[in-house]
Amino acid sequence: MTKVDVLLGLQWGDEGKGKVVDVLSHDYDIIARFQGGANAGHTLEIDGDKHILHLIPSGIFHENKINIIGNGVVVDPFILRKEIINLRNKRIDASKNLYLSKKAHLILPTHRLLDAAHEFSRGNLKIGSTLKGIGPAYTDKTARNGIRLGEILYPGFYDLYKSLKDQHLRIISMMDFDYRGFQLDGIPFPEYESQWFESMEMLKHFHIIDSEYFIHQSLIQNKTILAEGAQGTMLDVEFGTYPFVTSSNTVSAGVCTGLGIAPSRVGKVYGIVKAYCTRVGSGPFPTELDDPTGELMRKKGCEYGSTTGRPRRCGWLDLVALRYAVMLSGVTGLIMTKADVLSGFKTLNVCTRYRRNSEIIDTFPFGIHHEKLTPVYEELNGWEQDLHSLQSYEQAPESFRNYVRFIEEEIRVPFVQISTGADRKQIVKIREVL
Ligand code: GDP
Ligand code: IMO
Ligand code: MG
Repeated sequence: MTKVDVLLGLQWGDEGKGKVVDVLSHDYDIIARFQGGANAGHTLEIDGDKHILHLIPSGIFHENKINIIGNGVVVDPFILRKEIINLRNKRIDASKNLYLSKKAHLILPTHRLLDAAHEFSRGNLKIGSTLKGIGPAYTDKTARNGIRLGEILYPGFYDLYKSLKDQHLRIISMMDFDYRGFQLDGIPFPEYESQWFESMEMLKHFHIIDSEYFIHQSLIQNKTILAEGAQGTMLDVEFGTYPFVTSSNTVSAGVCTGLGIAPSRVGKVYGIVKAYCTRVGSGPFPTELDDPTGELMRKKGCEYGSTTGRPRRCGWLDLVALRYAVMLSGVTGLIMTKADVLSGFKTLNVCTRYRRNSEIIDTFPFGIHHEKLTPVYEELNGWEQDLHSLQSYEQAPESFRNYVRFIEEEIRVPFVQISTGADRKQIVKIREVL
């Protein structure tokens, strides 16, 4: 019996997970999303063509690989249909190899209205949500009010829908939020709702499965499975910078509940690390650079959100946060992305500790949103060379390899691959993952 390997973001999301999953998909039979929803934006570049996936796993560009949207994901049928149509326009027929869990919860149009109403009511304390309805959908799931995808196969679905929608509208009416003028992805509510239902009809023709049994049987048949994380550890609802987080477990433990596998069935854990840090939305970010260096990172790294287009906040690599992320998920191999973006920086700062008043700490503090922390930096030499066409790790400049070695020594987990550009071909292997 095989195990499920896992790939996760170790920072605040957008580490380049989609690109790396696409590359690793060669080695797997099944790619499965286990949490999050269309708040994710996973970008793949194939022969100069850019694709952004929100709900569909990033293995979809490989023929004959099965892609599963697991029970832990929250699904907006409208967005899923749009993605399926975009793929069809690129001659990818997702109806063949996209499988949906019956137990995945639905995001109703009114979940999106609620998300907007909550954000609106937060005033200056906005989370910076992507407004895809993620928080309200997970709230209904745990409050036992939610509707699961499998319900669309049974009579009575409309009654369930209507009852939940009415409940949402009652809440919204008490919130001083005029939803009537509000547009969802540029579409007025009634039209969005009717397209949502059309999308539901389309999804009925897809494989809607008991994904936990399917995965279990696949493991017995020695099929290889890669679980694809969305968001990043610092956005995890338990361990991230709460309340400025998303509403799911982005750490490796989320794979167990999000796909229905036992902890003993988790295999390798790949942790994706951007060579610097970014964050989109509000919340603590100790190494943020609100200066020309941060601006340069944003420009060189094209740091604008794949889902919302918002500029991403940029800053130096934070090893305190990274150490915490590696600990929480039991990461066995690191993969660095966007190393190429740092070419040309004379020196690079890496945060190894924080200073809190007169104290130096190396753990991520509970009160991060209350306390003033100053990063303690180690300054390392940068490198001039362009890394985009690097063919092997041995050819990499010495100061880049020092950067990699320094992180490995601090974090005590080896890097296994380095991504040197957005295209699927731009990646070099260092060693096998343990
Ligand atoms: P994800 O959410 O973790 O999948 O990451 P996103 O797709 O939101 O953001 C990562 C961005 O960086 C995308 O535009 C990718 O095409 C791009 N990208 C991924 N890896 C690399 C890399 O190694 N170098 C460069 N320059 N861009 C990369
Ligand atoms: P991928 O998978 C970066 C952020 C939002 C906001 C907070 C809560 O592409 O890495 P939500 O919509 O979940 O209510 O937003 O989390 N966020 C992300 N940031 N990458 C993501 O996904 C994100 N998904 C959510 O910006 O601050
Ligand atoms: Mg993203």
